[in-house]
Amino acid sequence: MWNPPNIGSWKEHRYRSLIMEPDEYADKFSSTVTNGFIALEIAIGHKLGLFDSLNKFTSPITSTELAVSCKLKERYVREWLGCLSAAGFVSITPDDKYFIPEACKPHTASSSLANVLPNVAANTSSVLECFKKDGPKGYDYSNQLDTLMWLDHPKKSCDSKWINENLFPVGHKETDTISNVLDFGCGPGSLTIKIAEHLPNAKVYGVDIDRNAIEKAKENKAKENIPNVEFVLLENDHLDESWTKKFDWITMVDVLHDLPNPNLSISNIKRVLTDDGIVSVIDPCVHSDHKMNQGNQNAAMLYVFSTFLCLPCSMSREPAVANGVGWGVQNRAQFIKSHGLKILGDEHNGLVQFQKA
Ligand SMILES: C[S@@+](CC[C@H](N)C(=O)[O-])C[C@H]1O[C@@H](n2cnc3c(N)ncnc32)[C@H](O)[C@@H]1O
Repeated sequence: MWNPPNIGSWKEHRYRSLIMEPDEYADKFSSTVTNGFIALEIAIGHKLGLFDSLNKFTSPITSTELAVSCKLKERYVREWLGCLSAAGFVSITPDDKYFIPEACKPHTASSSLANVLPNVAANTSSVLECFKKDGPKGYDYSNQLDTLMWLDHPKKSCDSKWINENLFPVGHKETDTISNVLDFGCGPGSLTIKIAEHLPNAKVYGVDIDRNAIEKAKENKAKENIPNVEFVLLENDHLDESWTKKFDWITMVDVLHDLPNPNLSISNIKRVLTDDGIVSVIDPCVHSDHKMNQGNQNAAMLYVFSTFLCLPCSMSREPAVANGVGWGVQNRAQFIKSHGLKILGDEHNGLVQFQKA
């Protein structure tokens, strides 16, 4: 289980120079690469259910027992156990049986982000070409369905409490004043469906330019049997004319920094927003100034997502504004204000809410 996203803020951070001692520098470099390799093996453990299975056993087991329980080849499972025990994440008894200590079992889930690592890394050759001066500018999400599905997965656990605490414009809007909601860039739609469950009296629309994502979203809707949600493929970046001033609440989760033409998208969003409507936008909480992210491992990790996904998407079509995660929450606030919109509350939060001025 992957927990719902955690949204940060930049309030407490201050610039500090980060210059390491050479030994510390060398150690950090080598341990980062070592851990990167181990993370690939952790990904295998999640994808093949090896952690789940080890967690279910109440006493230590042999590599054969683990292989049988996961329907896998013992020889490969033994190699995986060799890695994970060397890394310290699986323990061994003197008679060569493997186990995860009871108190540690709940924490195997904290490594589940490793799941998406192979999907992200699969873009390596494409992104190498994009770096080159005469290479392509970028690529969109049309070949990234597995990654989108993985990013979508945690949204399944975004309940009403999460929506209220992290997305809904609490204090600015009452739920019973909302008739129509737009989730812009909805991906496979799990959060859109959760919003529809949260607002059963509203009609919730999810739109995305990615055909595969919208097909998945429609499948998800059919599975969940939620009547007040609809998924629509967005063509030519244009929100339907009949939607003008239709939406009381618009959400954009992990989308704005990905857009190749955010000026066009925000003009569309302004057009379809009611006069007192509110837009809630979540982006990765990265500072726009590189100096302020120094030593922030989480920001470093978000930049990896950006290099392999967000920046190529934001450069995939003209005008290719090339925002990506590094655009940061400070530049985002300026962008919103430059469109004559009024920010409500903290403007340097992962979540920012705004309305027409
Ligand atoms: C990182 S995903 C986020 C998906 C979803 N909101 C979530 O939180 O899981 C970004 C989404 O933005 C969509 N997107 C990119 N450019 C878009 C555009 N111009 N209009 C609408 N959606 C777009 C992508 O297809 C992708 O599904």
